[in-house]
Amino acid sequence: MLRASLLAAARSTRMRSLVEAVPVTRSVVERFVAGAATPDAVRVVRELTADGRRVTLDHLGEDTTDTTQAARTAEAYSALLGALSGEGLAAGADVSVKLSAVGQFLPVDGEKVALENARKICVAAADAGATVTLDMEDHTTTDSTLGILRELRVDFPWVGAVLQAYLARTEADCVDLSGPGSRVRLCKGAYAEPASVAYQDKSEVDKSYVRCLGVLMRGKGYPMVASHDPRMIAIAEHLVVDSGRKADDHEFQMLYGIRPDEQRRIAADGAAMRVYVPYGDEWYGYFMRRLAERPANMTFFLRGLATK
Ligand code: FDA
Repeated sequence: MLRASLLAAARSTRMRSLVEAVPVTRSVVERFVAGAATPDAVRVVRELTADGRRVTLDHLGEDTTDTTQAARTAEAYSALLGALSGEGLAAGADVSVKLSAVGQFLPVDGEKVALENARKICVAAADAGATVTLDMEDHTTTDSTLGILRELRVDFPWVGAVLQAYLARTEADCVDLSGPGSRVRLCKGAYAEPASVAYQDKSEVDKSYVRCLGVLMRGKGYPMVASHDPRMIAIAEHLVVDSGRKADDHEFQMLYGIRPDEQRRIAADGAAMRVYVPYGDEWYGYFMRRLAERPANMTFFLRGLATK
């Protein structure tokens, strides 16, 4: 119930102005977001990579209906990749791109514009020695996002995508994307989805996650295990052994600010551990989804309010 309300609020412009106006919000947001500008992101990348963690960076923003804004987002990614290169931090880094931030929802030619902008980001990533992963948004965008992924992979075969275990279709998508060179980040899914397309029960989502993980681990691609869930991580570690995978042909991923000790533990054990680092001003939707997925995050936020 709370999750559904928070996810509805994540898309409400009225709630957005209310939440952004709360003085304590900024300090709580800082726990999950690297900062507002490119130098903030670069600083956090330097900190995380110093102890062996890898990074994927998200220039925050989504659902734009403005062509200029979509182009600006692509330029921001290019500037970020340039800044990381300048600091010697770009090789092996990844950027995570929401297609709705680069034009997918534009009323005219949205998919075409998103593809062109995503291509520009891929060119900048290739120049920097980095990779690109397409984030997955709500289920109405899945076919479009996977279609754009296919187009991008013709020229940039290393482009990856996110699949969400809560969708009933995802096991089949994992089969389709388990071939050589394919990079798939498997997560549980963060949006409010109807029962017609998504498992509603947490245990059903977890079972689907394990089935999807099995498909990806037995496949020939590069699985990226994106979860903070100790059970999912333990199962993934077993599947790595069972499927004979080596340390360099899969990785674990977590969000910035969540379970940092476990992130360091995984990296210290010799596995690849990548941290998803969001930065920028447009933190509202991202922040509300983090509150929705864990009551403790909400408590943290409310406690901050109460002490103000
Ligand atoms: P879940 O939320 O089910 O929690 C299970 C258990 O994990 C908890 O009981 C607790 O033990 C532990 N845990 C979780 N959060 C914790 C915390 N803050 N502190 C301590 N323990 C905690 N979603 C999407 O729809 N599209 C996308 O593109 C992406 N991209 C993405 C990238 C990466 C790198 C990650 C890690 C996640 C995403 N997500 C996403 C978000 C994802 O779908 C999901 O909402 C969150 O990861 C939460 O699900 P978990 O698997 O972490 O476990």
